[in-house]
Amino acid sequence: MTQDELKTLVGQAALQYVKPGSIVGVGTGSTVDKFIDALAASGIKVAGAVSSSVRSTERMKALGIPVLEASEVEELGVYIDGADEIDHAGHMIKGGGAALTREKIVADLAERFICIADESKLVDTLGKFPLPVEVIPMAAAQIARAFAAQRGVATLRAGVVTDNGCQILDVTGLQIRDPMAFEREVNQWPGVVTVGVFARNRAQICLLGTKEGVKTLKFL
Ligand code: 5RP
Repeated sequence: MTQDELKTLVGQAALQYVKPGSIVGVGTGSTVDKFIDALAASGIKVAGAVSSSVRSTERMKALGIPVLEASEVEELGVYIDGADEIDHAGHMIKGGGAALTREKIVADLAERFICIADESKLVDTLGKFPLPVEVIPMAAAQIARAFAAQRGVATLRAGVVTDNGCQILDVTGLQIRDPMAFEREVNQWPGVVTVGVFARNRAQICLLGTKEGVKTLKFL
């Protein structure tokens, strides 16, 4: 099976977590696109979706799925999103699609984070995928120096302005052995809007697309 087919498989598998009449949190990315397409084709009528990006909002609206503002919703049962990396405890690196800030906001509204990913995303230690960090532009160089002190090499993502008008640094050379402590520390640096480590908002379930089919990993 190709990576694209594995993404389709997990996008469809995520439908089991969508209750008719509920409001669902929806992430961003090529795997989530498959979920959105599967939801629209399924005939499951949701009361609405809270979206984590302009990209997902446009796709859902085009397919007739009602989109609500995060500020209209107090809590969500599930948030469904992909990941760039996920470890064996459900901690993730996210932000490859530059939507990490809104993803963390919507994930935080949800009772459960359901991660949908193909098997290439499962890792023992986070950090091989360049860590996305959304930053206030005037702080970008300062934050890059702070990562350099931890042997991280931060590169500005060229030509990218986030949905929030900020920039993205991609940081290589990290091995994130304690994701919770790392997230807490980087969150304190002035000018960091969001660090792409999702530890506090880790996944409770991962639907992993493998050649043998969908494996359900539970991190409860
Ligand atoms: C976007 C993300 C995505 O979930 C992540 O990049 C995975 O994307 P894809 O499903 O296209 O592999 O965090 O900001």
